[in-house]
Amino acid sequence: MRIYKVGGAVRDRLLGKPVTDIDWVVVGATTEEMLAKGFRPVGADFPVFLHPKSGEEYALARTERKSGRGYGGFTFHASPEVTLEEDLIRRDLTINAMAEDDQQNLTDPYHGQRDLEARLLRHVSPAFAEDPLRVLRVARFAARYATLGFTVAPETLALMHQLSESGELEALTPERSWKEISRALLEDQPQVFVEVLRACGALKVLMPEVDALFGIPQPPAHHPEIDTGAHTLSVLQQAALHKQPLTVRWACLLHDLGKGLTPEDEWPRHIAHEFKGLKLIKAVNERFKVPRDCQELALLVGEYHTHGHRALELKPSTLLELLQSFDIYRRPQRFEEFITACEMDARGRKGLEERSYPQADYLRGAATAARSVAVQPLLEKGFKGPELGEEIKRERLKALKAYKEATSV
Ligand code: CTP
Repeated sequence: MRIYKVGGAVRDRLLGKPVTDIDWVVVGATTEEMLAKGFRPVGADFPVFLHPKSGEEYALARTERKSGRGYGGFTFHASPEVTLEEDLIRRDLTINAMAEDDQQNLTDPYHGQRDLEARLLRHVSPAFAEDPLRVLRVARFAARYATLGFTVAPETLALMHQLSESGELEALTPERSWKEISRALLEDQPQVFVEVLRACGALKVLMPEVDALFGIPQPPAHHPEIDTGAHTLSVLQQAALHKQPLTVRWACLLHDLGKGLTPEDEWPRHIAHEFKGLKLIKAVNERFKVPRDCQELALLVGEYHTHGHRALELKPSTLLELLQSFDIYRRPQRFEEFITACEMDARGRKGLEERSYPQADYLRGAATAARSVAVQPLLEKGFKGPELGEEIKRERLKALKAYKEATSV
């Protein structure tokens, strides 16, 4: 049996990037031989094994053929006769279809190294189309390597286009799609992910609500970039520049969906887009079975981002409502993430990337003021039940009034 390092580990070593997990392919072996060497099978009838010590994945060389719709519809063939070249040709991109032996000798039948140098994400063969998830994968790799100058090869983009139009993307499970989306959003240039999906027509299928934002104008006074889609991408880019977590990035992507619903005769204004957008945000959240923390923050940022921008003008009672909506007493982190998302929204505008955002500290101060109301003295005064709740609210409102007065110049 011969063992090779394959896929991302080879690609990233050649790019001079850190290699985190290593995949191996085993040529000329049978399942029985693998088991005899102590490898643990990953699934009952899939030819992938875990190394008894390192836990790394070792797959028998295999060929694959699509036998139906979706990911389940695959038949594969693994046997000691399957060659390394046959295994590599079923893979997605040329840069992911290289193998290396223990002497670092490269097997590169599909010219991955040439494409690495040319900074091209290019599919290996028409078999690319057998897994529609690859449309998202390519967009994700484009986001990851954009800084290095990588782009998608035109013929690959054309194939992605065909796949997007074929209805195959609809067959992807929410879990697989979300895994790609979430990983892509955490890359350095997540906006490139959205751009590539849009360029190949996949955005229209996966997130029509985001796709609809392109071509919708906003008032130039607040939005020099004018286009709502361009704004959304800049907000996402700001979130990545400021190393924000997934929750914030997801909220940034969805915060303005309501603008896609504005009747054309109201453009470039978007009255009540915050509220109108909520049902769209909810739909996207549910489509991909998005984790609860991301869902919640996206909805809250969607509903309240304009409140964030207007923080300094808000009446104490409105400020209190905002703080209560976020349950800042039990969920301080979530409010902090809201503040940052608002800041990214304010900076994700052409020429305003470096602007200061005094609203952030103002909101933090307001939260501190509201939290400073102690419950114990109210209990001692004999308040309980709903009355206690009302009294706490009254005290918090008092604290916010004092805060507003103390901070106004
Ligand atoms: N692969 C593929 N098509 C897929 C998934 C994976 O062709 N839909 C192949 C590629 O050759 C890929 C390898 O399997 O390089 C390993 O897949 P994975 O671990 O998902 O990706 P990596 O390339 O290692 O990339 P990452 O750094 O994102 O993990």
